[in-house]
Amino acid sequence: MSTLYDEVLYPNAPFSQTHPDRLATLATLFGMDPAPIHGCRVLELGCGDGQNLIPMAFENPTAQFLGLDIAGVAIRAGNQEIATLGLTNLRLEHADILDAGPELGTFDYVIAHGFYSWVPEPVRDKLLALAKAVLAPHGVVFVSYNALPGGRIRQMFRDMMLFHLGPVTGFEAGIQGARQVVGWFQASQHSEGESSIIQAQVDSIMERQPECLYHDELGSVYHPVYFQEFAAHAARFGLQFLSEANYFEMQPRSLPAAVVAEIDRVAGSDRIVRDQYLDFMKCRMFRQSLLCHHSIVLPEAPLAARLPSLFVCSAAKPVSAKPDLSSGVAEEFRGERGAGVTTAHPLTKAAMLLLAEAWPQTLSTGDLLAAASRLAGQPPDPQGLAHILLSAYTAGVIELHAQPAHCVARVSQFPTASELARSQARRGRLITTPRHATVEVADEKVRALLALLDGTHDVAALAHELQPVFQLPEDELVKGIQLNLTLLAGMGLLVG
Ligand SMILES: C[S@@+](CC[C@H](N)C(=O)[O-])C[C@H]1O[C@@H](n2cnc3c(N)ncnc32)[C@H](O)[C@@H]1O
Repeated sequence: MSTLYDEVLYPNAPFSQTHPDRLATLATLFGMDPAPIHGCRVLELGCGDGQNLIPMAFENPTAQFLGLDIAGVAIRAGNQEIATLGLTNLRLEHADILDAGPELGTFDYVIAHGFYSWVPEPVRDKLLALAKAVLAPHGVVFVSYNALPGGRIRQMFRDMMLFHLGPVTGFEAGIQGARQVVGWFQASQHSEGESSIIQAQVDSIMERQPECLYHDELGSVYHPVYFQEFAAHAARFGLQFLSEANYFEMQPRSLPAAVVAEIDRVAGSDRIVRDQYLDFMKCRMFRQSLLCHHSIVLPEAPLAARLPSLFVCSAAKPVSAKPDLSSGVAEEFRGERGAGVTTAHPLTKAAMLLLAEAWPQTLSTGDLLAAASRLAGQPPDPQGLAHILLSAYTAGVIELHAQPAHCVARVSQFPTASELARSQARRGRLITTPRHATVEVADEKVRALLALLDGTHDVAALAHELQPVFQLPEDELVKGIQLNLTLLAGMGLLVG
C-alpha cells in the first residue's frame, strides 16, 4: 500500500534527544538501572528512511537496532544506505505497526519521534501497547507529540491554511497556498502588541522544509493533547511518565517565583499536575516525553547520588580571560541558549574551567572531582560537587551522558573523522557528530577537508591533496587547514 509519505518523502534526521544515551541518562538520574548502550536493543516506530537510526548504529556497532515504517520508499532508501555503509546491526522493515507484536522481541529503548500526533487513534493506542509489550523491565520509551494549549495556536494556522487550500491537493500547490495565506496574516500584523508565540509560529511555517510543512501541518491527522491526557493514555497501557527528554524544559525558568510557589502548593507532590500547570503558563506546543513501566517506583526529582555513574561535559566558557579560582571572587561561565552560571565557589569554578578546556570531550564525575580539587587546591567534596552538577544540568549549563563521548578535543598529527561523517561530507552540508548532533558545514572546501580525514594524512599531506580546491599559497593553505581542523574538533567531529 502506498501512503502520502511514499509520494512526498519526509526529511528524517538524527535527533540527539532520542538517542539511547539520553534515555539512559535520564533513567539513571531517576534511579533506574537502564541497559548500557554498547549492548542495548533499540526499536524505532515510524523510522522513515532511518536517518535517526543509521548514525546510532554506526557509532554503536555492538548494539542492535530495528526500525519500522509504513512508507516503503523511505525504507528502501534507508536500506540502500545501510548496505553502502556495511552496517550489520540495523534492520529497517516496511511494516504497519498495527501488524507488529511481541514477536519483535524485547527492547531496552523504544523511540517514536514525530509519530503520535500524526496517526489515527487506533495507531496511537497500538504505539503504546506495542511499546509496553516489547519493553525490557528497565526500558525507556520516547514519544514526541504536539501539546496543548500551544497546539491550539498551531491549530489556528492549520485551519487557516486548509480553509485557503479548499479542494486544492498536491505537494507544490499545497505549500504555495499555505505560505500565501500565512504571508497575508503576517503582513496584517502590527509590530506593537503582537504575540511572540504567534510570531514564532508564523516564522516556523515560513521557514520549515516544505516536505515537513506538508506532513506536519497539512496532513489528514492533527492530534495535539494536554500533557495530563497523554500521561493518562500511557497509564492505560501500563506506562508512566519518567521525564522530558530535554530535562531543562521541565523547569519553570522565567516564570515568576510567586506563580511557581502557588503552582507547587496546588500540585503538591503530583508531577503530572505541576507539569500541566507549567504547560498552561508557558503555552507549551510540543513535548518529548519519556515513559517507563508503571511498576517502577520513581523519585520526585533526579538523584544527585546517581551522578558518579555518569559523564559530564559543557560548552560553557569562562567570560573572563583568566578566571580567578580563589574563594570569594565571582566568575561567570556562559553556554548555549543563554544558559550560564556565576559562582564564587572555588571547586565549581575549577570544574567549569576543566570542562571548558575538555569540550567537546566528556569527563567522568570521579575524574572531574579529582582534577577540580587539585586545580582549586581544595579538599574533594563528592556530594557537594554532585549537587552543583545537578543544578548546572537543570539550568542547561552542563550535559550529562551515560557513555563517554567518542571524540577528541585537540587536533592530532593524523586527524580522523568517522567514516559516516566523511561520507556525509561528500554528499551535503549536514554532518552527524558522534554524539548524534547535526552540524552544518556550509563551506564546500571545509567539507572537502573533512572528507579526507581518514587518519592517513598529516597537515602537509592534506595541503598537498587540497591545493587544487583551495588554490592558496602554501603557508596560507597550511594555516587555513589548521584553523579549520580546530573548528571541526570544536564541533565534536574529530574522533582521532
Ligand atoms: C511525521 S513522520 C516522522 C518521521 C521521523 N520519525 C521523524 O521524526 O523525522 C511519520 C512517519 O510515521 C510513518 N507511519 C505513519 N503511520 C504508520 C504506521 N501505521 N506504521 C508504521 N509507520 C507509520 C510515516 O510513514 C512517516 O515516516
